[in-house]
This record gives sequence, structure tokens and C-alpha cells, in this order.
Amino acid sequence: MSALKLGIVGAGGMASYHFDGFTRAGAEVVAMADKDIARAREFGAGRGISRFYTGLGEMLDGSPEIGAVSVITPNKFHKPLVIEALERGRHVYCEKPPALNAAETEAMKEAAEKAGKVLMFDLNNRARPEAKAIMYYIQNGKVGEINSAQATWIRRNGIPGFGGWFTNKAIAGGGPVLDLPHMFDLALYFMGYPEPDWVLAAVYDDFMGNPAFKGPWGIPDLAGGVTDVESACHAFITFKTGQCLMIRSSWAEMNEREVVSVTFQGRRSGGKIERLFDIDGLDGTSIDNCAIFTEEDGRQVDYLIKAEKDETMGRVAQAANFVDAITGKEAPLNTPAQAVIMMKLVDAMYESAAARRPVKL
Ligand SMILES: NC(=O)c1ccc[n+]([C@@H]2O[C@H](COP(=O)([O-])OP(=O)(O)OC[C@H]3O[C@@H](n4cnc5c(N)ncnc54)[C@H](O)[C@@H]3O)[C@@H](O)[C@H]2O)c1
Repeated sequence: MSALKLGIVGAGGMASYHFDGFTRAGAEVVAMADKDIARAREFGAGRGISRFYTGLGEMLDGSPEIGAVSVITPNKFHKPLVIEALERGRHVYCEKPPALNAAETEAMKEAAEKAGKVLMFDLNNRARPEAKAIMYYIQNGKVGEINSAQATWIRRNGIPGFGGWFTNKAIAGGGPVLDLPHMFDLALYFMGYPEPDWVLAAVYDDFMGNPAFKGPWGIPDLAGGVTDVESACHAFITFKTGQCLMIRSSWAEMNEREVVSVTFQGRRSGGKIERLFDIDGLDGTSIDNCAIFTEEDGRQVDYLIKAEKDETMGRVAQAANFVDAITGKEAPLNTPAQAVIMMKLVDAMYESAAARRPVKL
């Protein structure tokens, strides 16, 4: 069987992880499209990509052998590009967040069902070795039903530039609530993606525009650009199953340091997965620690799990899983139905914060 041919739309920072994952799984990246075609050519140089376009439509017209497309553009363009690719009969891998809101994500899910194609998102933290290790204990019954979890991604100074698309609500859909969904997605994944019941949230926009709170990552500032998204969100969610989840997401908050973690309390064991910072000289932003806390024969026992290190934070493994899900070698690590639940929670967090009351889903 000949290798699956892929085309990438958007030569952003995640493109190299997508490329490495697709090729690791045996697929071939044959074309790349970017509005800024020079950026696409620069990415393709040395990677064996020989065809470049300024848009998805042109790319599919010019390279009809493409069987799957990955979308790595600012969030506003996810829905139209994903739906166009699905309607033209391609499988699609799309960067997070899935779209600007739940209605858009639902439309993408329906398009995938109608086309009979795989639609997956880059929720890369599920593909980390540490998350897989925790999932092993959850699936073999060691943890039991998770009653409660806490998902945290808070930064002290991590605003990704001012005035560019990340801080413009019309293009990004929101601030850290949408940009940092990874930890609450991971918590929901561990909990079995239950149906939400109530959402209570508060958002804050302190420090937006203050250069002292700008992160070392992101995109260049755009003079005269729009900065109208939140800098922090705190939320509490209950589920129809009786489970509950606390969420803390921020780009800028007066916290001692950045915290990236999921902790959970199951009926048999608890556990945590937590980003390590500046330990053993490793890249402090890409290595996690994970543990299970349990009781055995009347004693409290802690399992400190040694997982293999993955400096790509699961991004390469998640892209490889997309190809393996198409070829039937592996089950997909995430589904459109889960993406819809995730985005319903995002919508409800904004609604609750604006109305200053709990929202029933
Ligand atoms: N999974 C992760 O950890 C992670 C990390 C960073 C960014 N992201 C996501 O990746 C996506 C892109 O972010 P980025 O930081 O790479 O942005 P970016 O602005 O650096 O790059 C986006 C690229 O898309 C191109 N583009 C925009 N609209 C287009 C269109 N309609 N057709 C073709 N090309 C188009 C732009 O010219 C640009 O080169 C976002 O959704 C972001 O949330 C995910």
C-alpha cells in the first residue's frame, strides 16, 4: 500500500512537530500552503516538500493525491479550513483549540461524520508518556472512578505578545481559557470525558498591555492591534455523573511561578502529573513527573512513575497517532465528540463569568 500523502496548511511553530509525527508514522508530507508562501517554502526547504501554495483550495487542486490535511493557522480559520478539507474528502488534523466555540466545533464534527473521515485535534498532552502511564493505572482499575480533579496551567508572565492574533478575541476566540486547554482536557480524559452539568467561572484581564507580563514565547507585538482577551480564568465544574473539576488557566497572574499540572482523587487511588522546572538541566518546560497515591494492606503507598522523557510534549506522538488512526493501526487519542464537550465548557466559562452566575449545561 502506498504511503498516505499529507498537506500542511500554516507554517506556524507546530508545523515541525506535525511533520515529524506524520513521517514517523510512515506518511509523506508532499505539499504546504501558507498565505505567506515564503514562510511555507522556508519550512519545506530541507524537508523534501516540493509543492507550495497560498491556500488550502489551491493545494487540493494542485496536489489531488493528498489524502489528509493538517491545519496550523490562527484559531478563527480552523472551522472553515477543516470543513473545506472534509467536504473535499480529506482526513483532517487540526491544532488546538478546535475552533472559536462549541457551535463551530459541532459543525466540524458533523462534517467529519458526513464525509466519513477522521477528524482529530492536537491535544498533545494526552500523547505524553506520563499521561499514558497514568492512563494505564486508570484503565486497569487501580484508580477507580475519579471523583474530583484540579487542572492548572497558570503563568506568572506568559502573555504571548500584544495586539497580534493571540490577544484579539475575534481571531483567537479568547485568552488562556482557549489557548491553554491542555490540562483541563487531560483531566477530562482521565475522568472519562463526563457530561458537564454546572459551570461557575470568573475571568480577569489584569496585566494585559503591561510588558512586564509578556512571555518569552508567542508572536511579535502589533502596534495598533487589538488586545481584548482575558489574562486569567478560575472555574468550578460539576458533571452529571457527580464528578467535579476545578480549572485555573492564566497567561499572567501573581503566582510564585508557572504551574502546569493535573491532580485527581479517585475512589481507589489519587494521582498527579506535573511539569518540572529547571530540574537536572532538562528543558524545564517539557518534562513531566507523574505519581499515583494509594493504600495497600493498611499502608499509604506512593508510586513515583518513571516514564520515558519526551521533549516534544507528546506533539510528535499525537501527530503520529492521527496517521495510525487513519490506517487503523491505533485508536484515535481524541474524538470530535470530546472536542465538542471541551468547547461547551469554554463557552459556559465565558457565559458564567459575564453573567456572574453558574451556568447549567
Ligand atoms: N499544541 C500546542 O502546544 C500549540 C502551541 C502553539 C500554537 N498552537 C496552535 O497552533 C495554531 C497556529 O499558531 P502559531 O503560533 O503557529 O501561529 P502563527 O501566527 O505563528 O502561524 C500561523 C501561520 O498560518 C498562516 N495562515 C493564517 N491563515 C491562513 C490561511 N487561511 N491559509 C493558509 N495559511 C494561513 C499564517 O500566514 C502563518 O504563517 C493555533 O491554533 C495555536 O493555538 C498549538
